[in-house]
Amino acid sequence: MKLALVMVGLPARGKTYTARKIARFLSWRGIRTQVFNVGNYRRNLSGAKVPHLFFDPKNGSGMEARRQAAQAGLEDMLDWFAAEGEVGIYDATNSTRRRRDWVKSVLNDKGIEVTFLESICDDTSIIESNIRATKVSSPDYVGIDEDSAVSDFRARIEHYVSVYETIDNPNDSWIKMIDAGRQVIVNRLNGYLQTRIAAFVMNLHLVPRPLWLSRHGQSLYNVDNKVGGNPSLSKAGVLYAQSLVHFMSDKPVQEIWTSTLQRTIQTAAGLSLPIKEWKLLDEIHAGICDGMSYADIERDLPDVHRARQADKLRYRYPQGESYEDVIERLEPVIFALEHRREPLLVVAHQAVLRAVYAYFTEQPRESCPYLSIPLHTVIQLIPQTYGCVEMRFALPPHMSDGI
Ligand code: SIN
Repeated sequence: MKLALVMVGLPARGKTYTARKIARFLSWRGIRTQVFNVGNYRRNLSGAKVPHLFFDPKNGSGMEARRQAAQAGLEDMLDWFAAEGEVGIYDATNSTRRRRDWVKSVLNDKGIEVTFLESICDDTSIIESNIRATKVSSPDYVGIDEDSAVSDFRARIEHYVSVYETIDNPNDSWIKMIDAGRQVIVNRLNGYLQTRIAAFVMNLHLVPRPLWLSRHGQSLYNVDNKVGGNPSLSKAGVLYAQSLVHFMSDKPVQEIWTSTLQRTIQTAAGLSLPIKEWKLLDEIHAGICDGMSYADIERDLPDVHRARQADKLRYRYPQGESYEDVIERLEPVIFALEHRREPLLVVAHQAVLRAVYAYFTEQPRESCPYLSIPLHTVIQLIPQTYGCVEMRFALPPHMSDGI
């Protein structure tokens, strides 16, 4: 199935932010997704530094240049759909019914379904912070002082306001997001994919909050290089748990998520914070290899070893899981992490944290099984408008505990 998500909304309503989050989520889920940003086509065709009058609907040559940019973006999206694309996100204001009808008919003619995604926001504090956080640093305003950039951008918005028509066609498929997560209204969502996208955007908000990720401390199975099982922490793992208490002592975390396996629960126990145990965070299920070491698998089950080496993302342990299975089962965890407004520590396992980390840091899906998530290291992710700032802390054993 091919689906176009056609963004709708005034400038500075978080369209690009939302488009990129959806693209990241769908790509992580293995759906070929790409964003086509008409502003970039306009900059390529007409140059970056156009004054707000370029966007005045009474400016005929500006209107024509903008129509050409919209067309160039749409044509590229059609080419991409023809080649490989599954979900194309057409990121533009699409602020009039006429423009939307044109976009929809061009896409429908090629057999591509259309869902409109409108972002409405009248909260001036959100608009203002969006303008300051993203627009003044846009290529449109390079070398222009912040106040002049802000006032030009506000004038640009007013040009769009003068012709803006909200989505109201009951026969179209659409999602309306109001005030950055306060309300979401949906109409005629025709399939599973659209409903997943609607559910995803229902969890989005703009409250920044840090996330800390940690593997459990070293387990008795880690010592023997064995997979699976439900082992306790080794002595070194217990020391890591103590270091973690020390490290987290000045962090504003009020809850910890662990798996249901005792090595994560033991790692988090000393933190004296409420623990939510998620079965979904349990380590990749190694099936018939559970309890074996990697050397055992290579010797006793060489076919399994070879097949997994050849395609670690897709290979499913007999009676167990693949990385793809892990990614799929983590979808509710990602929704919950997006939804949360408070800082959080997640203590889990290597494969699971690879998948979570790949989502937040936008790693290509194929790289997921190889991402470095070492033992005894806390990964701190601080979300920014686009992406995350990451820091890693390798924790030494907590010397005051006597070893
Ligand atoms: C832009 O040129 O920055 C946005 C184009 C549009 O109105 O969609």
